[in-house]
Amino acid sequence: MNKTVYVGMSADIIHPGHLNIINEASKLGYVIIGVLTDKAIASYKRLPTLNFEYRKTIVENIKGVGEVVAQNELDYSINLRKIKPDFVVHGDDWKDGVQRQTRQNVIDTLAEWGGKLHEVPYTKGISSTQLNESLKEIGTTPEIRMNKLRRLIEAKPIVRVMEAHNGLTGLIVENAFVEDNGIKKEFDAMWLSSLTDSTAKGKPDIEAVDVTSRLHSVNDILEVTTKPIIYDGDTGGITEHFVFTVRTLERLGVSAIIIEDKTGLKKNSLFGTDVEQTQDSIENFSAKIRAGKQAQITGKFMIIARIESLILKQGVDNAIERAKAYINAGADGIMIHSKEKEANEVLEFCRRYTEIENKKPLVAVPSSYNKIYEKELAEAGVNIVIYANQLLRSAYPAMMNVAKTILKHERAAEVDEQCMPIKEILTLIK
Ligand code: SPV
Ligand code: MG
Repeated sequence: MNKTVYVGMSADIIHPGHLNIINEASKLGYVIIGVLTDKAIASYKRLPTLNFEYRKTIVENIKGVGEVVAQNELDYSINLRKIKPDFVVHGDDWKDGVQRQTRQNVIDTLAEWGGKLHEVPYTKGISSTQLNESLKEIGTTPEIRMNKLRRLIEAKPIVRVMEAHNGLTGLIVENAFVEDNGIKKEFDAMWLSSLTDSTAKGKPDIEAVDVTSRLHSVNDILEVTTKPIIYDGDTGGITEHFVFTVRTLERLGVSAIIIEDKTGLKKNSLFGTDVEQTQDSIENFSAKIRAGKQAQITGKFMIIARIESLILKQGVDNAIERAKAYINAGADGIMIHSKEKEANEVLEFCRRYTEIENKKPLVAVPSSYNKIYEKELAEAGVNIVIYANQLLRSAYPAMMNVAKTILKHERAAEVDEQCMPIKEILTLIK
C-alpha cells in the first residue's frame, strides 16, 4: 500500500528549501501538506504576508503535493492523529529553540502507530528571516496594510497596539521585539493618539491640532513602517467633516478610526469629571457612525465607537445601552474607556458585553488600570489592547532631565551616559 507523508509548513515565502523538502517527501509516498493557519503562525511570530487561502492555493499547485489540509496549531499532534501518516518530513533545523518541543511531540505521536520522522538537511544560504527583512524593505501597500488589522483580530487572542506620534516612534513600534522561549513578541499595530500627537506638537489635546496636521504625523509614520494604524479620531468632528476624514484615512491605508461619543469642546478623557465634558446623545453619535460607514469605499476600513460613559460616571448600564446602539448603527468595534486605577468596572462591562449577540471586536486602553495583563483582558473578551501614551511619557522626563543637567553643569559631559552614542544615532536610521 502507498505510504502517506505529512509535511507541516507556513509556506509564506516559498523558496527552494521548501521545494526540496516536498521533493524528498514525495520519494517516500503520498504527500499531505499541513499549511499552518494565520492563528497557528501568529502564536509564535509575526502574521504571514499572505493569508491562509492564498498560501493553501500556492502549495496545492506545487509538484509532488497530493493534498493540502489546514494545521490550526503549531503542535502537529491533532493533525497527525487524524491522518496517521507513515512519515513526517521536516528540515533538520528545528532541533533548537521554540521548535524543539514541537519536534519531540512529533516523534512521540508518530510512535503511537509506528510512524517515523524523516529529516532533510537544511538548505544552506536561504533564510526566511532574511527574505522577510527584504520584504520589509520593499514596504507595503495601503490595501495590504489596511486589511491587516482585521486579519490580526481573527488570528490573535489579543492584538497589541502601541502609541506612535512621529516617524521615530513609528520605527520603534515597527521594530521593537523580545524573544521569550523562542516566541517572538512584538507590537502588532500603531495607535495615532491625539494626546501624544498634540503633546509632541506642543498643543493641548482639545482637537486644536486639526486633521490636516494630524495627517502629517500619519504620513511620516506610513513612510517608514508596514504595521497597521488605528487613528484616534477624537469626536470625529461634525458629521459633514467626519465623512471626509474617513475617506482620507481609508485611501492612505489606515485600518481604523476610533471616535468618542463626546460633543462640544473635547478634553482628554483622563481628566474624567475634573473638567467639563459633554457626552453626545445616542441618536447624534449613531448618525455620525452611520454617515461614516456610508462614506467609506472598501468593506475593510473600520469605524470603532468609543464609549465615554465610565469616564463620565454614567455607569455600566449606560455603556452597554450605547454599545448596542452603536453596533446597530454600523460600528465595526467598540472601545470602552475608564480612568479608574482598578479594572473592575471595565471587566464588568466586558462580562455584559460578551452577552451581546451581534457584538463586534472590543478595544481597551489600560492607561490608569495598568496592572492588568494582556492575558486577563483577552480572557475577558477584549480583542485589542492599546498602550496609548507610554513612548512619549517616557521620553519627556528623560529629555527634561538631560536639559536640566546641562544647565546645571554648563557643559554636556555629565549627560553623556544617558545619551545614545553618536555613532549609534548616525547609523540608527538605515
Ligand atoms: C489618546 O491617546 O489620545 C486617547 C486615550 O484618546 S486617552 O488619552 O486615555 O483619552
Ligand atoms: Mg485621544
